[in-house]
Amino acid sequence: MNKLIYLDSGSTTFPKPEEVYHQMDRFYRDYGVNPGRSGYDLCMIAVTMVEETRRLLTKFFNGTDYNRLIFSLNGTDALNLAIFGLLENGDHAITTAIEHNSVLRPLYHLSRDSNVEVDHIPFDSRGFVDPDAIKRKMKKNTRLVVVNHGSNVIGTVQPIKEIGALCRERGITFLIDSAQTAGKIPIDMDRMNIDVVAFTGHKSLMGPMGTGGLYVREGVEVRHTRAGGTGVRSAIRSHLDEYPYRLEYGTGNLPGIAGLNAGVKWVEEKGLHTIHEHESNLLRMLRDGLREIDGVSLYCQDDLTDHIAVLAFNVDGLEALDTGTMLDVDYNISCRTGLHCAPMVHEQIGTDKIHGAVRFGIGPFNTEEDITTAVQAVGEIVRSRTGVHAR
Ligand SMILES: Cc1ncc(COP(=O)(O)O)c(C=O)c1O
Repeated sequence: MNKLIYLDSGSTTFPKPEEVYHQMDRFYRDYGVNPGRSGYDLCMIAVTMVEETRRLLTKFFNGTDYNRLIFSLNGTDALNLAIFGLLENGDHAITTAIEHNSVLRPLYHLSRDSNVEVDHIPFDSRGFVDPDAIKRKMKKNTRLVVVNHGSNVIGTVQPIKEIGALCRERGITFLIDSAQTAGKIPIDMDRMNIDVVAFTGHKSLMGPMGTGGLYVREGVEVRHTRAGGTGVRSAIRSHLDEYPYRLEYGTGNLPGIAGLNAGVKWVEEKGLHTIHEHESNLLRMLRDGLREIDGVSLYCQDDLTDHIAVLAFNVDGLEALDTGTMLDVDYNISCRTGLHCAPMVHEQIGTDKIHGAVRFGIGPFNTEEDITTAVQAVGEIVRSRTGVHAR
């Protein structure tokens, strides 16, 4: 059996840094109690760990008040909290065709059930959304603009700062989905004019599954759309308005937060620039290798600046699913196939009609050898199907 080559970091990073496993294990063995519910020693150790993680992530996004960093179940949950908590009956929202279903579906439900009007801005032939196209759609009742920072299909990184400036001038709340970028591309809420950032913990922040959250800038208020226990001021009938309780409900994923704490520290120690450069070099190598094979269609721009390390492609004449199965069964290469929860991207690039694409997602632990093997494997799959030889 060939060595496993994991090229599905767009779905989740694997493996995690050793310290992440260690911290999760340590949480449960040494102080695995419910923080904020009592004042005994173990409880206070757990509180300290959660607070330290809030501070780490607040600093990571250049926020100002660590209580405004709230933890959720994952990126999808964070986006739901923000979208349902920011929009009301009669509001208008603008988003893009590059979004993941964790943005598209909440907005669809609001448009179907709550009289919220939604515009979807297409991307250009290089995969970028034009800030002016967003500006042209802004109107009096536009309350929210939601944009995916980095595409999980075509990899393009959107001009967040420019879009944010347009929103800021008009007092429109600007929410970004950083699921694919946090941990690879610097996100400075202040400099990039971001009001609310939604993040996931289990991708490039190197934390475990079941973690994610929001940072909500001071001056922006997200309504609570759920209610429950917070561990404090229990006699009050309604859910608390103050952050972080406002957007946290019940017992959180404490071992997950402990692991995320270690993941963020690992990322900071390596440095975003170093991680991004390593992945970008491998991406270039992968793109150049696949480009040399006749019979492979790549869905990626020529210039790889403003790009994260995911690459979508198809072997001509093969269903993406079949290519993925061959990569898995014959070469022990793990990747993602299908629509990647981003159906409008596939509609725009035309791959919706052929059931999507194959996606290689490069992570910090991938090597040049992994890429060489993946390119060779795709070449062999093409040749076995068509008899066409690599140039
Ligand atoms: C762009 C984008 N947004 C949101 C999500 C959802 O993140 P999570 O899996 O943490 O819910 C993903 C996950 O694949 C994603 O790629």
